[in-house]
Order: sequence, then structure tokens, then C-alpha cells
Amino acid sequence: MREGALVILPTETVYGLGADAANPAAVASIFEAKGRPRFNPLIAHVADLDAARQVAALDDRALALAREFWPGPLTIVAPIRDAAAVCDLARAGLDTVAIRVPGHPLSRAVLEAFGGPVVAPSANRSGRPSPTTFPDAVAETGDKAAAALDGGPCAVGLESTVVSVLAGEVRLLRPGAVTRAQLTAIVGPLAEAEDDAKRSPGRLALHYAPDAPVRINAASPEPGEAYLAFGAWPRGGANVFNLSPSGDLAEAAANLFSYLRAADRLRPRAIAVAAIPDEGLGEAINDRLRRAAGFVG
Ligand code: TXA
Ligand code: MG
Repeated sequence: MREGALVILPTETVYGLGADAANPAAVASIFEAKGRPRFNPLIAHVADLDAARQVAALDDRALALAREFWPGPLTIVAPIRDAAAVCDLARAGLDTVAIRVPGHPLSRAVLEAFGGPVVAPSANRSGRPSPTTFPDAVAETGDKAAAALDGGPCAVGLESTVVSVLAGEVRLLRPGAVTRAQLTAIVGPLAEAEDDAKRSPGRLALHYAPDAPVRINAASPEPGEAYLAFGAWPRGGANVFNLSPSGDLAEAAANLFSYLRAADRLRPRAIAVAAIPDEGLGEAINDRLRRAAGFVG
């Protein structure tokens, strides 16, 4: 990474494709490797809160969130302090930066050894489901990376929650592994979210999508479809993947992307997905499913 190469890194959420955040050429090669249709700002990963405070201006509310959830699956968008540490291209020219301290011991060890911020989008090609296992990450972007670190399956399986903490207001930009209820327990009610395109640039419809079309809120599969069940499902079969037989949302989140990929490998007519309760982690799961199905969230 010091020489500008890309490295696949495990995090507790999903596998990332990492590069030196201060090196514009390295950052440009991330966009190229993923085939991102346009420059979409990246998340800067750092080893600890002190490192984050050198890069971003974290106010009291941002600090309260950081102390509660770092290391872990929360990304905070805050004003940039050290514009050279996370280059313009990585921020898409914004005067803010998205920053997080990941929880996976392997990525933290890399960040400590590297000594500066590492930008890492999910290691999938643009528009596809995020990889949550080492083989899936290598299959997506392994040919673009100089190295890949195997950290096992991702414990969380869904991307980090993205919040902005700007002018004293906390907004939810992307639902994720930290739930809305967990956020409000620390900072109180959140400010009104802005419209989708404005709030998190690059969050396009048809994101996280497998090759087969996705049909959501499906009570059962049609002939030729693969099915992602949730909760007790009486019929098994090679085309059925149960996200969580006991109806546990954390288990469903951890299985979501790898089961979408497994279902896709059957080359079904479509992938039908059971209704998922819209509470807690279900908000983030449904956000990803709506995008996989091509609906703007
Ligand atoms: O769990 C995760 O967050 C994973 C792992 C690898 O850390 N990373 C990830 O990165 O999901 P990516 O690039 O796929 O998503 C970054 C999100 C995008 O929705 C982007 O628009 C938003 O963060 N973002 C980044 N910088 C921003 C900024 N300055 N203002 C608003 N949104 C920003
Ligand atoms: Mg992504």
C-alpha cells in the first residue's frame, strides 16, 4: 500500500479493497478496479480514535458516538481537518470526510502498521453484492489487488452505518450494522434525513445486485426461482436458503450477501426474498434488498 498498490482487507462488516488515502493515484486505481460509474467518496479507515481526530473535526456528539461504537461498524462523516491525509479524490472534492475504526483485528493490525488512513470501499465490482467471505472478495477484485488477507467470514455481513455529524446535527445517511435505536440512545433523536441522492452521493438504485433479478416481499418462490426464506420455512430444497430459521435479524444480516451470491450461482429465473421485519437491523437489510431489486430506497 505504501507503493500505491491495492490490498483486500477483511473487516467485521464486509471485505474492503484498501489503498493509501493520501495517494491520489492509488485512490484512482480503486475507482478503476471497481468500475465505479462516477467518483463516489470513500471511507477512510484508521487505527483508533486519536488517529481519527487528527484527520476529522469531531464535535462532542461525534465523539460520544465514536467512544460508544469504535472499533466497530459505524462511519462518521465530519469536516475534514487534514486534507492531505485523505486526498481530494477520496473525498470526491467534499470538505467532509467519512471515517471509521474497524473492529476486525487483522485490519486494525494493518492500519497500525501502515500508520495513516486507508480508504476501502467494499471489495465488490460496482453494483454487485459486497463480499463477506475471502473467496467472494478474491473472485470480485482479486485480480486488481497486490495482496489479499484472509480474515474468515465477516461477523456482521452488512456495511457500516453512515451518519453525518455536521453543524451539531446527526443524520442517518446509510442504515447499517448499528441500528437507529442504538444511535438515538447515545445522541437523542436524529435530524431529518435529506433526499437519497443528496445524503450519500453514489447510492444508486440497482446496487448490491446479483445477476438474477431480485423479487422482494415474496411469500413463496415461483417455479424456476431461488428463495431466501426468513423464519420457519417448512419446505427445504436446493433452491431455498434460509437467512435465519429462528427469525434472528443479526443472523440474517450476516448471511444476506453470501446467500444472494449462492442463490445466484444456481442461475435462477429470479431470486425471491421473504419479507423481513423493518425493525432494528431489518432497516439496513431492507435497504440493501430494495436496492438489489432496483428500487430506490
Ligand atoms: O462497512 C463498510 O462501511 C465497508 C467496509 C469495507 O468498511 N465499506 C463501504 O464503503 O461500504 P463504500 O465505499 O462501499 O461505501 C461508502 C459510503 C457511500 O455510501 C458514500 O457515498 C458514503 O459512504 N460517503 C463517503 N464519504 C462521504 C461524505 N463525505 N459524505 C457523505 N457520504 C459519504
Ligand atoms: Mg459498497
